[in-house]
Amino acid sequence: MARRRWIGLTAVLLIAAAAILLSRHLHNVRLETQLLRTDPDVVAHDSQLVRFAVEKARPLYTAHCAACHGVDMTGSTAQGAPDLTDRTWLYGDGSVFTIERTVLYGARSGLSKSHDVSDMPAFGTRGLLTPTEIQEVVQYLLALSGRRHQNEAARAGREVYLGKGGCGDCHGGDARGNSDYGAPDLTANVWNSGGDPRALYDAVYFGEHRIMPGWFGTLPLGDIRALAVYVYAASHR
Ligand code: HEC
Ligand code: HEC
Repeated sequence: MARRRWIGLTAVLLIAAAAILLSRHLHNVRLETQLLRTDPDVVAHDSQLVRFAVEKARPLYTAHCAACHGVDMTGSTAQGAPDLTDRTWLYGDGSVFTIERTVLYGARSGLSKSHDVSDMPAFGTRGLLTPTEIQEVVQYLLALSGRRHQNEAARAGREVYLGKGGCGDCHGGDARGNSDYGAPDLTANVWNSGGDPRALYDAVYFGEHRIMPGWFGTLPLGDIRALAVYVYAASHR
């Protein structure tokens, strides 16, 4: 009698547990579908979807992105990979839509829809500027970004910037960058390859060709959407 009651109780518990698991699974399937169907910039304002996406993306970020952008998402100057938590963007305005575009197709990734309009020219190796001119333009960059600099060299560097260097063609006459070219804002004091004089000198002397892989075709679209929301959430805390 006692044994039969015990079996009955176990069966009821098992059925209840299965029902809970099933309903949780269906709930997740529904959120997963909703995450992909909803306009990306609307997702950003739906706290339930953001929470779901962040949970889903956390292990994906660790597996696929942390090696370059760092476990804490603050980037790596060695890799030239940007800080993803600040509000300074190379591409777009930091909306889920524009972040997702970068994650989908990358930069200089070889995919046809990749951001790939221009590179940072190698002014030194190509003999476009002399080492002295590069040192001067570096002093101007330090001045622009509010760092310690030598006034006279910075003034000469401004001439190089606007004249012979033609830096404004891509970074803008005001040096605030141009998202269409992926040319960084040089006034924000946010440096993807390091902001000390040596790193700036190397960037101008050797040029740059940083590559962000595109994930279209490698990761499912739902994972990419979740990662875009994850990056958005990290930069809009
Ligand atoms: C091999 C290194 C590498 C990996 C792996 C990588 N990235 Fe990047 N990522 C970069 C680099 C380098 C850039 C900057 C590209 C440039 O300078 O034009 C970048 C740029 C970005 C940007 C644009 C930032 C901006 O300022 O506009 C986003 C967003 C981004 N990565 C997200 C991710 C996510 C999410 C993953 C994982 C799915 C990932 N990255 C994996 C190297 C990497
Ligand atoms: C043809 C367009 C173009 C011109 C001209 C150009 N740049 Fe750039 N610059 C870029 C691009 C694009 C990047 C980002 C490259 C990358 O991510 O691989 C960049 C990157 C940089 C960086 C690195 C920033 C960082 O975050 O580490 C510095 C510094 C820089 N440029 C300074 C200059 C100066 C100074 C000049 C003029 C002497 C100049 N640029 C001229 C397109 C240009």
